[in-house]
Amino acid sequence: MSDGRDLVADGFTETASDYEDAVRFNIEGGQRLVMSIPAGHYEDVLDVGCGTGWTTQALIDRFSPARITGVDPSEGMLEQFQAKVGGIDGVEITLAQGDVENMPVPDAAFDLVICSMAYHWFPRKWDAAKAMARALKPGGVMAILCSGRGGEQAYRDILANLEPPNYTWLGAFDAVQRDIPEMEDYLLQAGLDVQDVWMERRVRHTTVEAYLERMRVVAGHLIGDQSEDDVAAYMDQVEAAMRQASGPRGWTYDFTKLYAIARKPG
Ligand SMILES: C[S@@+](CC[C@H](N)C(=O)[O-])C[C@H]1O[C@@H](n2cnc3c(N)ncnc32)[C@H](O)[C@@H]1O
Repeated sequence: MSDGRDLVADGFTETASDYEDAVRFNIEGGQRLVMSIPAGHYEDVLDVGCGTGWTTQALIDRFSPARITGVDPSEGMLEQFQAKVGGIDGVEITLAQGDVENMPVPDAAFDLVICSMAYHWFPRKWDAAKAMARALKPGGVMAILCSGRGGEQAYRDILANLEPPNYTWLGAFDAVQRDIPEMEDYLLQAGLDVQDVWMERRVRHTTVEAYLERMRVVAGHLIGDQSEDDVAAYMDQVEAAMRQASGPRGWTYDFTKLYAIARKPG
């Protein structure tokens, strides 16, 4: 598709087996999202952009749902998902390969729709929220975690100050990150009662290698159609600039996560 959906899915399939090692903080964010869902009885759950199933695992631990449907366009991620949660006793797992806007799931069938660290990749945010809201039963809860506006500034500064700047990669941050008012609007336009939307900003210290590995795993598809040699030469420059900017605690960066909880009226 021209809006890059296939590229995103193929990128995640390529990195599916490395995903969990590289994104510990995503996983912990998914767990905090699950902890923020109002107490209740959620029998039927839909996990959109379910990935390797980490957030589903946290949901099972907290709510013991009877049935979970995982939707993801990436075959590689669904394979990891199946291996992780496919055999858990007491919960029926259904997997569907698909895009958020064309999910092969019934309308008004789920008590909870969760979407952890996937929403920022959806090319049409309003349509995505509407599709997820359609799947909710009246009174059902929607829980979203995605990349928030303003994070990764140190890396963006590196990209902006290389010559020439990489406009494609720089622009990608603006294309995916969102702020609180935008998220509220997606949810309101989808007919939901917005209960809580908040942002979390954290400063982290890591190695240059670990940071670049995380970028490869979650955003490798943004490399686009540049040749391998061009990308390698460019990454050498990026890495050298990051090393120069690193201090005694390593590479310092901040990451902003946007959380939202909403309920379907009724
Ligand atoms: C960073 S992973 C998050 C996985 C998991 N939810 C978690 O919490 O670890 C993002 C996932 O979103 C999926 N995704 C990307 N674009 C999508 C789309 N248009 N519709 C549904 N899922 C999508 C990717 O294939 C990938 O598995």
